[in-house]
Amino acid sequence: MMKPYRAGITGTGSFLPEKKLTNSQLESIVETSDEWIVKRTGIRERRILEDFAPLADIAVEASVKAINDAGLSPLDIELIIASTCSPDYLSPSLACMVQGKTGAKNAAAFDVNAACTGFVYALQIGRQFIENGTYKNILIVSAEAMSRVTDFTDRKTCVLFGDGAGAVVLSRVDDGTGIDAAILGAAGENGDVLTIPLLYASDTDIQNRNEGKKQVIWMDGSEVFTFASRIMAEATKNVLNNAGVEMEGIKYIFPHQANMRILQNAAKRLDISMDKIYSNLEYTGNISSASIPVCLDEASNKGLLKKGDKIIIVAFGGGLTYGSALLTWSM
Ligand code: UT7
Repeated sequence: MMKPYRAGITGTGSFLPEKKLTNSQLESIVETSDEWIVKRTGIRERRILEDFAPLADIAVEASVKAINDAGLSPLDIELIIASTCSPDYLSPSLACMVQGKTGAKNAAAFDVNAACTGFVYALQIGRQFIENGTYKNILIVSAEAMSRVTDFTDRKTCVLFGDGAGAVVLSRVDDGTGIDAAILGAAGENGDVLTIPLLYASDTDIQNRNEGKKQVIWMDGSEVFTFASRIMAEATKNVLNNAGVEMEGIKYIFPHQANMRILQNAAKRLDISMDKIYSNLEYTGNISSASIPVCLDEASNKGLLKKGDKIIIVAFGGGLTYGSALLTWSM
């Protein structure tokens, strides 16, 4: 049965902090090399939020751009869903901070945490509110201060992550564009391979970290790598099947930007050329849930997307979680 409404992206925005952390700067912080980082990850530099700046500020920058891009005012926004695994506060939520700072007085607001998959989860949640007729305009903002949950004495993780924010406006559309299909999933039984403790940490998690560093990322990189390489291809194939669309019909895939080798593995498994896979991780590092909306905004600003183009977004992350969505571009 045809749904009465569809949910489409009608505005995008992003913001990266000015301060850069290059591979050569990291060489003076931990025992690593530009050569190792580029070869194993594809990352050259990442952006870092200044100590005095709240994450909410960059979330607001990205949100205001997305709202303007959609031709709306903050008062038109009826719901704000923020995704983050590195918020300023547990309460108020990041979404409420964005609501207050943008003056989106008519919006309800809450946060979603699905780690790096957060944007895909938030998009699928927002889609429900549009398709069932509850709301017409929803702001989805993904913002991360990964540098604040990184142990800069752990070379296995500190070279990977960066900070940034990306946002989209998801609106009711009636021109056949919008979200065609989406898949969400989790593998909680393997959650201990990537953790960021907060108010409690298991003995194993305490042992895995340098002394006194509780609220930082620890990751079994190769386990996550194996999961990511498999699930990125699988989730892409499944969402294509669900939508009844062939890979030839897809203009771009926007994957979570974690490691160039993961993207190359996914391309190989999908038997597609890397030209179809959008990537900016060379200059951003892994900005967790913000990575996909930042890419969407970049691609949109570069004029790479036009109305009617079919794209896939696909992510994996802590939890473990994964998700994908197939969209017909609405802008
Ligand atoms: O958003 C989701 C988050 N996570 C990910 O996407 C991460 C997925 N995993 C990965 O991207 C990769 O596993 C890493 C980039 C983290 C690591 O690459 P790898 O090729 O799996 O390296 P490895 O962990 O097997 O380590 C190989 C060697 C080790 O040395 P030994 O034991 O062979 O002597 C490491 O100690 O490389 C060493 N190493 C480093 N050397 C220089 C690990 N980190 C570094 C470093 N610089 N930064």
